[in-house]
Amino acid sequence: MLSIGLLGCGNIGHIIAEYQGNWKVVALYDKVHERACELALVSGGTPYENFEDFINAPFDLVVEAASVKAVKAYAETILLHEKHMVVMSVGALSDPLFRSQIIGIARRQKRKIHIPSGAITGLDNIKVGQIAPISRLLLRTTKNPASLGLPASERTLIFEGKANECIKEFPRNVNVSVALSLAAGREVDVELYVDPAVDRNIHEIIVEGVFGDIFIRVNNLPSPDNPATSYLAALSILSLLTNIEEPLVVGT
Ligand SMILES: NC(=O)c1ccc[n+]([C@@H]2O[C@H](COP(=O)([O-])OP(=O)(O)OC[C@H]3O[C@@H](n4cnc5c(N)ncnc54)[C@H](O)[C@@H]3O)[C@@H](O)[C@H]2O)c1
Repeated sequence: MLSIGLLGCGNIGHIIAEYQGNWKVVALYDKVHERACELALVSGGTPYENFEDFINAPFDLVVEAASVKAVKAYAETILLHEKHMVVMSVGALSDPLFRSQIIGIARRQKRKIHIPSGAITGLDNIKVGQIAPISRLLLRTTKNPASLGLPASERTLIFEGKANECIKEFPRNVNVSVALSLAAGREVDVELYVDPAVDRNIHEIIVEGVFGDIFIRVNNLPSPDNPATSYLAALSILSLLTNIEEPLVVGT
């Protein structure tokens, strides 16, 4: 059975720890130690007070559900300790130097860094962009203004530009655009709207290439117990973990 070290015991960490899957959470670490202790009771794993002890515990794979800072601080050590990684805070990989460093270490250590589809879908075939160039790749995201802490009485475009610029202004909304960019092997154009009439996080993905065109619209509901997390993002990590060791690999 796959054994997991959980780095980050917040909203997504809860959903992972509570799910009865074909894996076992054996070690937990959070900078707020009480959170690791709380989830240890749910999962039966051991909470560690410092990262050094956590990473030396015997398990196969770290699931990061913490923050961009945590990925930057710990990814190298995780891979050097011969653990595979699942990264939720994929915004960390928008830094090309950091990205090539950790990919190089993973290659030498023969470990994998997995990026779940998270709050969107379609990353599978957007990877054709690495083979046949994509001429247009646009992510149009619409959120309620409250979720960005902005006042708006009508639908308003608050950002238009490249994903790497959006990262600087709206760091909490980068994960999806960075995952798209990594899959397609090119920069993503982003339009970010706030709209008081919507109560879901809506991601529209528009792709054009030599194959034709694609339009995807994802209307994300919040998780039943955690309104801050799109349920699809949480389900996505559960399905990744469920399938990670299966011999039949579908839709990659
Ligand atoms: N890829 C996607 O589509 C997607 C979707 C949703 C969330 N996310 C990302 O996943 C991450 C987790 O999301 P969440 O909703 O569970 O967040 P959360 O805030 O509920 O939980 C994060 C937990 O990690 C801990 N933490 C933060 N930095 C840490 C560090 N340096 N070391 C140890 N512990 C640390 C916090 O104390 C907290 O308990 C976030 O970075 C979020 O942006 C990605």
